[in-house]
Amino acid sequence: MPEAVGFEGVKDCSSLQEFSVSNSASFWAAAARHRLSWIKPFHTVQDCDLSLGRIKWFEGGQLNVSVNCLDRHVDTCPERVALIWERDEPGSEIKVTYRQLLEMTCRLGNLLRRHGVKKGDCVTIYMPPCPLAVASMLACARIGAAHNVVFAGFSAEALAERIRDAQSSTVITVNQGVRAGKVTELKRTVDAAVKDCPSVQQVLVAMRTENPVTMTAKDMDMEEEMLKEDVVCEPEAMDSEDVLFLLYTSGSTGKPKGVVHTQAGYLLYAALTHRYVFSYQDGDVFGCVADIGWITGHSYSVYGPLANGGTTVLFESTPIYPDPGRYWEMVQRLKINQFYGAPTAIRLLLKYGDQWVQKYDRSTLKTLGSVGEPINTEAWEWYHRVVGDGRCPVVDTWWQTETGGICITPRPSDPEIVPGMAMRPFFGIKPGKVVTSNPASGALCLAQPWPGMARTIHNNHQRFIETYCQPYPGYFFTGDGAYRSKEGYYQITGRLDDVINVSGHRIGTAEIEDVVNQCSAVAESAVIGYSHDIKGQGVYTFVVLKKDADDQEADLSQQLNNMVSKNIAKYACPDFIQFVQRLPKTRSGKIMRRVLRKVVERDLDGLGDLSTLDDPAAVQEIIQGHRELC
Ligand code: WT7
Repeated sequence: MPEAVGFEGVKDCSSLQEFSVSNSASFWAAAARHRLSWIKPFHTVQDCDLSLGRIKWFEGGQLNVSVNCLDRHVDTCPERVALIWERDEPGSEIKVTYRQLLEMTCRLGNLLRRHGVKKGDCVTIYMPPCPLAVASMLACARIGAAHNVVFAGFSAEALAERIRDAQSSTVITVNQGVRAGKVTELKRTVDAAVKDCPSVQQVLVAMRTENPVTMTAKDMDMEEEMLKEDVVCEPEAMDSEDVLFLLYTSGSTGKPKGVVHTQAGYLLYAALTHRYVFSYQDGDVFGCVADIGWITGHSYSVYGPLANGGTTVLFESTPIYPDPGRYWEMVQRLKINQFYGAPTAIRLLLKYGDQWVQKYDRSTLKTLGSVGEPINTEAWEWYHRVVGDGRCPVVDTWWQTETGGICITPRPSDPEIVPGMAMRPFFGIKPGKVVTSNPASGALCLAQPWPGMARTIHNNHQRFIETYCQPYPGYFFTGDGAYRSKEGYYQITGRLDDVINVSGHRIGTAEIEDVVNQCSAVAESAVIGYSHDIKGQGVYTFVVLKKDADDQEADLSQQLNNMVSKNIAKYACPDFIQFVQRLPKTRSGKIMRRVLRKVVERDLDGLGDLSTLDDPAAVQEIIQGHRELC
């Protein structure tokens, strides 16, 4: 940025940071003109009022996101590799050039158009990371449809809920998934989901394996149909604030919400953060191992790298398949320059020992990134010392589905990076209220809008306002807590609400309780997150049975696990289920989750004031039961 945009008086990164916050409109206007290709220039940089939940960037402007991610690079370097599809079986990677990806995207765009998908519609994509999934996202962008990518680990019920909320007429999937040598029946899951989704008229099925699957009247062989289409597809001129995609994520209450991101602001923010947070340079190979079903996959496997004309890896496997050297063998084979992964995987690999890393040449690595959950010091240091041989900066990047891109993070060029700290805000980001004295801790709020932030919750703007704008009027409330050191560095301390983070996956405890409570033997339940060595947090469930329930507890545990897996996903399943006679409640009948949390964290001294408890004996009983279980 400093080299590219000449702002008066801006000499280095830290003065640019200051400038970007105090002159946010001119900063972002310059970035948008410089980094994006516009069909029509914008006339208003920003029109935002956080307290009203009104967020608009680059109004008057028109562009097409797929043109920005593809056509402009095809014009200059058609044979550059856009995607490296790192398939489950090591050594079987497939490279896709910008020219090929544009061709796939255009064929798919034409196919969708021919089947009635129009500007403003929403297409659901239920696919593991693969080039056709990326082409599907970009094809939607090309014709002005929004996409709704659903993580392919979600159950049929969870998928159906998201398809219904998005009102998709079209679903795109694969016949089967392949992960860690195992085949998953993704098309069958779609069949089960679509039964309960009257809006769905057609399902496009790509073939990941050669095994045929039963096709229904709604199904189409996607690759066969694509061959019939033209390789040129006229891009739709989209307004900056038209919807680019929905992505469902969990909140502390209610059903998962469809977070809405729009065209120009999102793309600009993904591109700029990708370039500066990782020091991405032309010709680098960027390896983000997140699934495309999460925002990390959207912003840093797809949109950020492609907007920058980069080469990006799509990782289909797991960190320990076929062995715990997988990541580093891949780094060596693909010559990856930036590696971006989750602490949960780092913690797991650390336990297998250094030899799995040292076997492979990692000299291409320049930056190591961490995302999704707090990274503990031990994992951070191992990542830095062993994986990066002590020579690659580790950037612990804090952000969320709602922020669209990284908001608080060290920069690789920073003279000092403190292990386990997210350090400093990105350009244009201003955390907290007017700076008071440090150190300080409290709710992490962002004090001014930035182009990448979510605009609303699909079909529920009121919920958007209540969740993010009302808790601290004039600020965007993130749901996280933060500590700011005396040097002014930020450390994220974890969620302040009833959202937990299991292996980097976000889940509302209320969502799991809803499923558990559907069991006919269950009277009520409470789900609590507890510290887990590998997963970051585990799921601990307290269950009160109905008086007349006569099922065996062991059978019931199994049954409850199955229910959670069937209704949500495997990762949300309880690690522990403790059956109790009653839950600790206030006299007004509210479950005292704080008390339960202290019990599962084994912090009995921290139980605090129990005088408002309805029945103090409940706590002793729970402590006893917890000891027996763990
Ligand atoms: C929540 C967002 C960020 C994209 C992937 C997850 C937690 C995320 C960090 C970090 C500590 C982190 C927060 C946040 N989180 N990154 N570097 N340090 N906590 O996106 O599913 O929307 O989850 O993940 O609690 O609110 P998400």
